[in-house]
Amino acid sequence: MTTPSYIIAGNWKMNKTPQESIDFISALQEKLILNHKTSKDSASFNTVEVLIISPFTSLYPVKSISSQVKIGAQNLFYEEKGAYTGEISPLMLKGIADYVLIGHSERRQIFKEDDISINKKIKTALKHEFNPILCVGETLEERESGNTFSKIENQLTADLDGLTVQEIQKLVIAYEPIWAIGTGKNATPDQAQEVHEFIGNFLIEKLNSKNFSDNSKTPLILYGGSVTPQNSFDLLSKKNIKGVLVGGSSLKIDDFFDIIMNCYKVAMD
Ligand code: 13P
Repeated sequence: MTTPSYIIAGNWKMNKTPQESIDFISALQEKLILNHKTSKDSASFNTVEVLIISPFTSLYPVKSISSQVKIGAQNLFYEEKGAYTGEISPLMLKGIADYVLIGHSERRQIFKEDDISINKKIKTALKHEFNPILCVGETLEERESGNTFSKIENQLTADLDGLTVQEIQKLVIAYEPIWAIGTGKNATPDQAQEVHEFIGNFLIEKLNSKNFSDNSKTPLILYGGSVTPQNSFDLLSKKNIKGVLVGGSSLKIDDFFDIIMNCYKVAMD
């Protein structure tokens, strides 16, 4: 698959040992293969990319068994080697991770990552040919004070600074409102769609400002924040929501599988 139309990504955060990761991915792949064999609709399978963003310690063991799913890392450092205790270099991830998550709100809030380092990480990830997934999103306070769009615009402006048209086209953006992460309170499909449309327009404007006129290839925009089997179909049915980034529900195989199935249903229409 070259360019997927949807991405269903599970961000496992700091969960699962290497063995638990292997067991989960083996079982998930069996379920996917069985479904593909028995389902009449095979066209949608090729348009939906399934991605597991595992802890670093699981990446190497799961890569060797993964055929149906892509593998992603939760972070990377922008230097290639040296005295950076505790960091993971792009060279260490090469050939193992397909995607790299950058700027997750937990990295920004707990580990104090700023837009300058996030911008460097995106450039490093692109240089080493990973697909970066850049996370942006507002706090509850920012939403309630009417600053959602300005927050997102500021983050995107700083994080994408200096990127070429071709580099921007390789990105995936994840809109993750911080108030929806791990709270059980997802953004409604309309709330999410509104921000996704804003991000989509921002990206098109940014590309056009670089004398780019072909809007057919713009980054996919995923939604993340309390996604479940119950709310995923309605979220994914929205025009500008091209996938989901799932935390808690990606740790349970049946829930994650049901979310993938919902995406196939949407992709079929
Ligand atoms: P939850 O799905 O647990 O809310 O987490 C979302 C998230 O942070 C994915 O990156």
